[in-house]
Amino acid sequence: MKIRVVQLLWIVPIGIVAGLAFIWIGLFNVAASSGHWPITAWLLHLAMQRSVAFRAGEEDIPQLNDPALIRRGAGHYEQSCAVCHGDPARPQNPAFLAMVPPPPPLSPLIEEWDPEELFWIVKHGVKFTGMPAWPAAERDDEVWAVTAFLLQLPELSRRDYRALVGEQRRDLAPDVQPCAQCHGPDGTGDPNGAFPRLDIQSEAYLAAALEGFSSGERASGIMQSAVGGLDPNQLRALARYYAEIEARPVPLPEEEIPAAVLGRGEELALRGDAGRNIPACSACHGQDARAEFPRLDGQYQAYLANQLRLFAGGTRGGAGFSGLMETAAHSLDEDDIEAVSAWYARRQPQD
Ligand code: HEC
Ligand code: HEC
Ligand code: HEC
Repeated sequence: MKIRVVQLLWIVPIGIVAGLAFIWIGLFNVAASSGHWPITAWLLHLAMQRSVAFRAGEEDIPQLNDPALIRRGAGHYEQSCAVCHGDPARPQNPAFLAMVPPPPPLSPLIEEWDPEELFWIVKHGVKFTGMPAWPAAERDDEVWAVTAFLLQLPELSRRDYRALVGEQRRDLAPDVQPCAQCHGPDGTGDPNGAFPRLDIQSEAYLAAALEGFSSGERASGIMQSAVGGLDPNQLRALARYYAEIEARPVPLPEEEIPAAVLGRGEELALRGDAGRNIPACSACHGQDARAEFPRLDGQYQAYLANQLRLFAGGTRGGAGFSGLMETAAHSLDEDDIEAVSAWYARRQPQD
C-alpha cells in the first residue's frame, strides 16, 4: 500500500515535465487556422460566461436611455468595435472572422446579458480571445455609454444605425473624416451634448487637449482610440482646422431651467463662493482668459457637467494647467455642477 502511494506521487512531477516537454518541443499547435476543438471552444466560452456572471457587480447604473449616452456609445462602436463585430449597416470583415475565437455579431447576444454584465465585458475585455479591455480604466462613464448603445443595438435597422453614428463626409480631408462623424463637419458637436463643440476653442487649447489624449494625460478611451494612430504634426493640423472655424451660435436648449438655478450658476461663474472655497470661474474662463484655457460659453451642458464631475473626482486629467481646475472643482456638489453648466450652456460663444 505504502509503495503504491509513493509511486502515485511520482506521477505529478512526471506529468509536469511531460507537459513542459510537449510545449518546449513545439508539439502544442497554436495555429489559429486549425481553430479550437469543439470541447475547448465550449469550455472557454463557459468559463467566460461564468466568470462574467460571478464578477459583474452592483454598479450605480446611469440613465441608460439617455439619448446623449447612446449616441456617444454609438460613435465609439462605429470607430472601434464594428471592425471586429460588424454592424447593422455592413457585413463583418472576413479578415477578423479568421480570429480564434471569431468575434461574434452582437445583436443576437445582447439579451443574454444584464447591463452590468455588458458593462463588465466592455470594461475588462476577455483574455485569450482578442476582446480588448477599455483603454482608460478610470472612465466608467464612457463604458456606460457603450453599454447604453449595446442595449439598443438589437432593435436598430441599417438606417437607424447610420443616423445614430453620423454621416461619413467623404468630401472632407481624410484626417478630419472620423472626427467629423462625432464632432460634426463644422465642429459644433452634438446638440444633446454627446460630443463637445470644438469650434469655440482656441488652437492652443485644442492642441493641448489632443496631445493630452494622445499621451494618456487626459483619460478618455473614446478620444484615445480616435487619436491613437496620429503623429504630432497631424494633431497640430487638426487643432488648427477646428480653431479656424468661426464659432456661430447654435440653437439654445429648449429645456426650461428654473431662474433660481440659473441665478446660482451665474453667481458661481462670476463671483464663486468664497465660504466653500469655490473661485469665480470667470477669473480663468472669461473674455480675456489665457489662450490655453478652454471657453465654456455656448458649450453643451451635458458635456460641461460631465467634465466637472470628472475634475471633482480627480480623474479628468488634462494639460499642464489642469491642476488649477481640479482645485477649482473639488468643492463643487451636484447642484453647483447642474447650475453652473446650465448657465454657461445658455450663453453665446465668444469671438
Ligand atoms: C479585435 C477584435 C475585437 C474588438 C476590437 C472588440 N471585440 Fe468584442 N469580442 C471579440 C471576441 C473575439 C469576442 C469573443 C469572446 C468569447 O467568445 O469569449 C468578443 C466578445 C464580445 C462580447 C460578448 C459577446 C458574447 O456574448 O459572447 C461583447 C458584448 C463585446 N465583445 C463587445 C465589444 C465592444 C462594445 C467593443 C468595442 C468597445 C468590442 N467588443 C471590440 C473581439 C473584439
Ligand atoms: C467616437 C466619437 C469621436 C471621434 C471619432 C472623435 N472624438 Fe473628439 N471627443 C469625443 C468625446 C466623447 C469627447 C469628450 C471626451 C471626454 O469626455 O473626456 C471628445 C473630446 C474632444 C476634444 C476635447 C474638447 C474639449 O473641450 O476639451 C477634442 C479637442 C477633440 N475631441 C478632437 C477630436 C479630433 C481632432 C478628432 C479626430 C481625430 C476626434 N475628436 C474624434 C468623441 C469623438
Ligand atoms: C485658476 C483657473 C481656473 C478656475 C478658477 C476655473 N477653471 Fe475651469 N479650467 C481651467 C483650466 C486650465 C482648464 C483646462 C484643463 C485642461 O484640459 O488642461 C479648465 C477646464 C474646465 C472645463 C473643461 C472644459 C472642456 O472643454 O473640456 C470646465 C467644464 C471648467 N473648467 C469649468 C470651470 C468652472 C465651472 C469653474 C468655476 C467653478 C472653473 N472652471 C474655474 C482653469 C480654471
